[in-house]
Amino acid sequence: MDTKIIMLDENNFDKNIMQEAGAVLRQGGLVVFPTETVYGLGANALDPEAVKKIFEAKGRPQDNPLIVHIADIEEIKPLVSEIPEMAKRFMERFWPGPMTIILPKSSIIPDETSAALPCVGIRMPSNNVAREIIRAAGVPIAAPSANISGKPSPTDVQRCIEDLSGKVDYIIGGNMCDIGLESTVIDCTTEPTCVLRPGGITLEMLREVDEDTYIDPAIMKKPEKDFKPKAPGMKYRHYAPKAPVKIVQGDLKKTIEKINEIVQNYIDENKVVGIMATDETANYYKNGIVISLGSRKNMISVSQSLFETLRMFDDKEVDIIIAEAFEEKGVGVAVMNRLKKSAGFDIIKV
Ligand code: TXA
Ligand code: MG
Repeated sequence: MDTKIIMLDENNFDKNIMQEAGAVLRQGGLVVFPTETVYGLGANALDPEAVKKIFEAKGRPQDNPLIVHIADIEEIKPLVSEIPEMAKRFMERFWPGPMTIILPKSSIIPDETSAALPCVGIRMPSNNVAREIIRAAGVPIAAPSANISGKPSPTDVQRCIEDLSGKVDYIIGGNMCDIGLESTVIDCTTEPTCVLRPGGITLEMLREVDEDTYIDPAIMKKPEKDFKPKAPGMKYRHYAPKAPVKIVQGDLKKTIEKINEIVQNYIDENKVVGIMATDETANYYKNGIVISLGSRKNMISVSQSLFETLRMFDDKEVDIIIAEAFEEKGVGVAVMNRLKKSAGFDIIKV
């Protein structure tokens, strides 16, 4: 398949391009587009044949449901059978933005989109290009992250091109994604509500709306054999670069010492080691390939660069990646959730 690649300035783009991409979506094609979280791989959420193409292009397991994206709040009505009061409050507070709300689905959502679940995740992104494309399509858009299943999600369009060129109709490139981690997923079919995937909208922020909301405890720890998270996607190996990842967790000074020791051992074995550092620590590593995620004081910059940094280590063909841990509060919860999954929960405590 010929993939049309279009790079645009997110603040000043040609609306005709959006009309073209919208028509492709409406007619059952696949379009990659930027969002504020990660790049999305979109198809018409109401068209089972179009949705099947997403699963094929990504190599995605069939039992993993897709998030349905809308451009304006009224568009949710035909997609769900009920909007509980708490869901309305979350929407008012956090939409448009990086939050997906799980609600009981209506009969127009095909089983292909919801993986035969009785509920559906709905998200209204804040990114202008995303909203413009959805609006131009005139249909709700199912969109997982625009990567091959299992890899770190793409926050830079080059990664979408690497993964999906030749498999989709259009790739629309904009800026680096602002948040860099996928949306917060909150289940509003239960009381209290429950966070199925942490993201840029933090638990602290969500509790301003529902003080009883909590994070599904299954997702932050090493999965047990019969592990069944409520978000099916959280059970798969995910966010994984080619090289194995190890996390060192504990006091920062001890972390640096431990990482230097581990790095030396790998270097003695002639291995190429990548160190995922921060601005505060990068200078303390004398060996290995050091990339800083940004300052620990700005966790959004850390979240923005996490996936891209994992992919940069792939480019450098390292044999192993050693990562520093972060405090599990605020956006740090989402960062650690993704990091632990990319490491397969290989954590060394110091
Ligand atoms: O930020 C995002 O949400 C991005 C951008 C493109 O919008 N999309 C994204 O989609 O991350 P995806 O498919 O990579 O992740 C969807 C997650 C999966 O963990 C899936 O299991 C969960 O949301 N999910 C979707 N629908 C669900 C449902 N009905 N019930 C429970 N979990 C659901
Ligand atoms: Mg994904």
